[in-house]
Amino acid sequence: MLKSGVYLQMAPVLFGRGTFATIAENAKKLGMTRVFLITDKGIPETSPVTNAKKMLEDAGLSAVGWNGVQPDAPEQVIKDAAAIARRERVDGVIGIGGGSSLDTAKLVSVVTVNGDEVLKGPTLVENLMAVLTGQKTERDLYPKKPLPLLLISTTAGTGAESTYVAVVSSIDLDIKVGLVRAGDFAIVDPSLTDTAPPIVTAFTGLDAFSHANEALTDEKNTAHADLLAYEAMRLIAKWLPIAVKDGANNEARDNLALASNFAGISFSESGVHIGHSAAHALGHKYHLPHGMCCAWATPAVIEFVAKDYPEKTKKIGAAMGIDVKSDDPKVIGKTVADAVRALMKDVKLPSPKEKGLTKEQVTSLKPLIYKEPLCETYDGVVTEQDVVTLLDTIYDRF
Ligand SMILES: [Fe+2]
Repeated sequence: MLKSGVYLQMAPVLFGRGTFATIAENAKKLGMTRVFLITDKGIPETSPVTNAKKMLEDAGLSAVGWNGVQPDAPEQVIKDAAAIARRERVDGVIGIGGGSSLDTAKLVSVVTVNGDEVLKGPTLVENLMAVLTGQKTERDLYPKKPLPLLLISTTAGTGAESTYVAVVSSIDLDIKVGLVRAGDFAIVDPSLTDTAPPIVTAFTGLDAFSHANEALTDEKNTAHADLLAYEAMRLIAKWLPIAVKDGANNEARDNLALASNFAGISFSESGVHIGHSAAHALGHKYHLPHGMCCAWATPAVIEFVAKDYPEKTKKIGAAMGIDVKSDDPKVIGKTVADAVRALMKDVKLPSPKEKGLTKEQVTSLKPLIYKEPLCETYDGVVTEQDVVTLLDTIYDRF
């Protein structure tokens, strides 16, 4: 019997090479006249993104640029940005960048009009739970309608343009937590990923792969999420090594941007679980890129879930071009995990050892991971011993 569940339909997405040129047209369609334009500082000069302000102004809009984005959106940074947006009397927000920029734009669109109170720890948790349990939708959460929001992704990894939660580092709670806000419109223009260096291409692509992988076995999983997840994995397995070797291969870049968006829709609807618990702990503790930590966890997650989901694990293999003959869940898990390990080596992802981590540093994260809320969203049982095995596997069997 197929599992019942909600198919989430997020912001419409305009996909395609060159679609960034429609930024002003789409901002106008959303009713914007004075835009708060959020970008991060690391934009290469060759990127079309550097022209965004001029493109808006040439079309008769005014724009206030702000590039103070920080990873995992510290609460104070969001409050400061929203204060500027309020003072500048903007009537719309555009976020351009990777996950942190898009999440910051989501947060600012809400906080600018609703005030800092919506960032209070209990309010964030209450709102998130109300949406996750289906009691409320975004429309019911905020006293004032958030500012119109256009999201433009520049990395093929997070899929944040199609997710409905923005990560914020809460002062009250002293953890990362989610604020509920989807974009009103998204643009995925693969040409914006053309300047990503090989290592960034590798770990963002593998981050998207991990979203698809974990979405298959999250408790909110649906058949619709699966469809997108398998296709995202097929595209990444095929095109990631090509894009890493030749960043100018447009076909590879296009397919990875599409895969990242598919994986984003899939995990926004379904969810991610222990792989991301481990990745959050590793990234937070040792200041490592999110995608790299997610990639390290992926083969270990595949070996862990294979006992509960042998058929799904086989299908991951099929998406990667491997016909797993065995019906033994252990063999299935190992075969498919080894294929992901081969993909990681092919794209030259460094191992935990190569990044200077000791085994003790990795295994000491067990209590942190076991306490992480995402550890509970796997559609099955996770024991403390499972977390120990996961961490051993991450370190020993890269
Ligand atoms: Fe991720």
